[in-house]
Amino acid sequence: MSILITGIGELTTNDDELGSLSDAAVVLDGERIAWVGAASRAPDADSRVDVGGRAVLPGWVDSHTHLLFAGDRTAEFSARMAGKPYQAGGIAVTVEATRAASDEELLKNLLLHVGEARRQGTTTIETKTGYGLTVPDEVRAARIAASVVDEVTFLGAHLVPPGSDAGSYVDLVRGEMLSAVAPFVRWADVFCETGAFDESQSRAVLKAAQEAGLGLRVHGNQLGPGPGARLAVELGAASVDHCTHLTESDVDSLANSSTVATLLPACDLSTRQPLPDARALLDAGATVALASNCNPGSSYTSSMAFCVATAVLQMRMSVAEAVRAATWGGARALRRESGDGAVGVIRVGARADLHVLDAPSTTHLAYRPGVPLTHSVYHKGTRL
Ligand code: NIG
Repeated sequence: MSILITGIGELTTNDDELGSLSDAAVVLDGERIAWVGAASRAPDADSRVDVGGRAVLPGWVDSHTHLLFAGDRTAEFSARMAGKPYQAGGIAVTVEATRAASDEELLKNLLLHVGEARRQGTTTIETKTGYGLTVPDEVRAARIAASVVDEVTFLGAHLVPPGSDAGSYVDLVRGEMLSAVAPFVRWADVFCETGAFDESQSRAVLKAAQEAGLGLRVHGNQLGPGPGARLAVELGAASVDHCTHLTESDVDSLANSSTVATLLPACDLSTRQPLPDARALLDAGATVALASNCNPGSSYTSSMAFCVATAVLQMRMSVAEAVRAATWGGARALRRESGDGAVGVIRVGARADLHVLDAPSTTHLAYRPGVPLTHSVYHKGTRL
């Protein structure tokens, strides 16, 4: 079943050859994009949809979320707004609630958040374990996540569970827990930060995961300067996420690496941190992604449009840079930007994931911040 989409006022493809097109058309055939070009040359298809001059872009690629959780941290948020600093230890509150929840509750909560994200144009979602922190709890989180989202990351090294000894817990994570979770995940991650895991603990977990064949991601430089970004580059991680407190040397090493700097501006706002220096990264030549970091503690939003608007209005990214970072950049952070079924791009052979805006151009995402601009969403060729 093919669909010809016409009347596209502005088409953002993220494809170097196609660029950005006006008066464009796209043909979706099953789960793939079959044709892209000028409307006047569009081939026929089984059905036709005229989007009336609206802007079309790839669906958002949200490469950093923590959606396997139960419970609520409104009280912690309110205390933060009253001046209390964000601390890694808040994770333990969600761990307790998540362990107490049934599989059905966790699945229901995950589907709720994924549905909320999809309705706002997110068509690729990564999520992490990390609120279980025992072998059975981490395995069940990974198993449930793998049944719903595109990419799953093992984050057993999110926090040393209260009452546990750090050394023994790191041994558990890189040993028995890693082996049990590995069949359900493609990635492993470590929260490399004061109050969570130090450099040598982080390196030990990441190296074990690499030896087990998993790709690496790192939570780094969130609450202060630290070794996370440097370690991510050293170990060839696909991304280092947060990057709120980078030194010049971190920026240089990211720019000379294939590690994506994933920025999470909604988290920095919610935790009253400074916003990351996106300009320094982009000007140095680093690859930047934007993601929501949707989680109940530090960033309870699934809105990629909010992240894009913040990046433009507060982080001096251009609209084009921010939109690319929230689509192609996220795909690159997940190593899914090329080949058959690529995401974050509109080109022949890519996954048929389109986001139609109720606006003539992507500029409206920043020009009209906070306004729900999603008109329609196609996910794997099906209109949601
Ligand atoms: O990416 N930084 C570590 N993990 C999450 C926060 C999790 C939480 O506070 O529950 C993050 O911000």
